[in-house]
Amino acid sequence: RRIAILISGRGSNMASLIEAARAPGYPAEVALVLSNRPDAEGLVRAREAGIEALAIDHKAYSTRESFEQALDAALRERGIEFVCLAGFMRVLTNWFVERWQGRMINIHPSLLPLFRGTHTHRRALEEGVLVHGCTVHFVVPELDAGPIVAQAAVPVVPGDTEESLAQRILVQEHVLYPQALAMICSGRARLENGRVVFSQGW
Ligand code: GRF
Repeated sequence: RRIAILISGRGSNMASLIEAARAPGYPAEVALVLSNRPDAEGLVRAREAGIEALAIDHKAYSTRESFEQALDAALRERGIEFVCLAGFMRVLTNWFVERWQGRMINIHPSLLPLFRGTHTHRRALEEGVLVHGCTVHFVVPELDAGPIVAQAAVPVVPGDTEESLAQRILVQEHVLYPQALAMICSGRARLENGRVVFSQGW
């Protein structure tokens, strides 16, 4: 399956997907990296890896819809079948989400449904949870509320700061995201009536 990765920043999850997709037999091919920020570090990393990397600057569009139409056109022109959001920091409208529903996933740095939205590590520390983590989920119109494909739990340890916790979780994100994408693209995880159904043998 031809996939696109949407980013806004450094693109470390993007890099882990690109790396994983190089393995023989991996069921997805990274055909495009797209950023809404022209200065995203991840664009440089993608080009270095030989992947087409495109910036569509949301500031150049007067409405969310016109920006998303440009995104959608770029994806369709390249025959993209599946979209991975990886640190993509624009909220998507229902129009775009519905167009890609069942064909778009995101990685979120918390154990959903806890800590939807931003600053998840800070909030986890404030709440005093002792287990935190990351989640790969299908994207639905409601933010960070889609059906869960995969999760990894990470301990919070004494003395943790937002940064140390983020770093410990990021290591797990880089393992989890390629696994979750492979499960979907190989048909081992699929969406049925708004829930993720897993086949035996994973
Ligand atoms: C990751 O923590 C991801 O979970 C969140 O944004 C961060 C992106 O980091 N959605 P990177 O750009 O993949 O390095």
